[in-house]
Amino acid sequence: MHQVLEPAFVGRTYGDFLFRPQVGVVDSRRAVSLTTRLSRRLRLELPVVSANMDSVTGARMAEAMALEGGMGFVHRGLPIAVQAEAVQRVKRRHGYVVEQPLCLPRGTTIREARVFIATHNITGMLIEDARGSGRLAGLLSNRDLPWVEGREEHPVEQFMTPAARLVTGPPGIPMEEAERRMFEHRIEKLPLVDAEGRIRGLITKKDVILARRRPYSSRDAKGHLLVGAAIGARGDFLERAAELLRVGADALLIDIAHGHSHAMREAVEAVRAKFGDVELVCGNVATAEGAAFLKELGADAVKVGVGPGRGCRTRLETGAGVPQLQAVREAWCAVGETVPIIADGGVRDDKDVFLALICGASSVMLGSLLSGTDEAPGSVIEDPGTGEKRKIYRGMASPQAVLDALYSAEPREDALAVDVPAEGQEMQVPYRGSVVDILSRIRGHLRSAVSYAGEATLAAARTKVLPDPLRYLVPLSSAARDESYER
Ligand code: XMP
Repeated sequence: MHQVLEPAFVGRTYGDFLFRPQVGVVDSRRAVSLTTRLSRRLRLELPVVSANMDSVTGARMAEAMALEGGMGFVHRGLPIAVQAEAVQRVKRRHGYVVEQPLCLPRGTTIREARVFIATHNITGMLIEDARGSGRLAGLLSNRDLPWVEGREEHPVEQFMTPAARLVTGPPGIPMEEAERRMFEHRIEKLPLVDAEGRIRGLITKKDVILARRRPYSSRDAKGHLLVGAAIGARGDFLERAAELLRVGADALLIDIAHGHSHAMREAVEAVRAKFGDVELVCGNVATAEGAAFLKELGADAVKVGVGPGRGCRTRLETGAGVPQLQAVREAWCAVGETVPIIADGGVRDDKDVFLALICGASSVMLGSLLSGTDEAPGSVIEDPGTGEKRKIYRGMASPQAVLDALYSAEPREDALAVDVPAEGQEMQVPYRGSVVDILSRIRGHLRSAVSYAGEATLAAARTKVLPDPLRYLVPLSSAARDESYER
């Protein structure tokens, strides 16, 4: 045990405290860094991850989260192939280098090339000598396609820029050098070829610009966006893990309702035996003992929260749970900074994120706050009477989600049986537009909070507050709570 839980945290959660303003040291809030650890090896510039729930994180949400500096965990209420495809979409979407660029061989007709370009939604493609040869023959872009009639059966090589006239780069070319070449020659695509003339990658202007505009995006060493994926602890979880890792998932999440359990131990041991040192997030727990247990098992991050979520009915149905700020603090008192803590569930206002972070969490997982956005799965429902737009948010153990899992074309073996009472519920939430705006708002509020804490970085604020948060927190009476939050 790292430290004993302060009694003042017992029974307390986010609405119970305010932060006592400290002497400010930053001139501009924009300068405040929010860099944090998500897990042993992963770093984020925004300490926020999206929940692995079927009404929150699919490929679109995961992509947006990573572009904004956070990360998404794709939910597992899907057949393995579909979940893996979602992860692959995020990994393939952006990168400094497209490692396996789409190619067509010489001899392809213009008609076929047009179909290929439309199918893959690209602006041009590399042409190789013979199918599968990998030898660069040229580049065909949209602009090269003939617009006069009667050329549809002509081969692409009549219109492409041949390899001899192309500006190319070697594999591993530094980003700055690639950018310089592209700008100097006013080109939008830089094929990478080795000494034998084989295609080894492609750099596009679009990706370079995106990487420059969002230096805070969460990316791996190759510039691909970071993405996590949930696997569960039973049934097909090892098969699922294998597929998710194959397509490049950066972290696996063993996510079960009661993470301080024998089932978790067996699952972690099985994953480690089969996949070794992969980045593994485990949860959920809500006590010091639970957090210490996951640390001992070798989790790379510990996810904390039993029953605080908006779609949760666990506390109502079973009486089990710990108020979320107490749970986060207990976990930190147990493991300190030896393993990062993800505070999962119960965040209703942006200020809750900051309270979680300075009491122990390294990042925060959000469900309902991010639902209702364009990027969350599901369509917008419009009330015919009021014209109000809404989306569905539901707990993963809600009767609806459980039934969907049971009746899906490829039922999950660990789908809850109908005789297990539902511990989640479904609700409608207001439609909120793009998640990007919500994340920008959270980023802004977090930066202000750090400046009220008298520091220039979240890391410094945490270092200052974590050993003794009660020095900095004001407990609220119910009158003070009304004064603070009732408007
Ligand atoms: P928020 O408050 O951000 O919480 O919406 C998201 C978290 O809620 C958890 N979750 C559930 N908990 N029954 C539960 O007891 C459920 O059906 C359920 N579905 C989600 C989960 O930890 C999520 O990240």
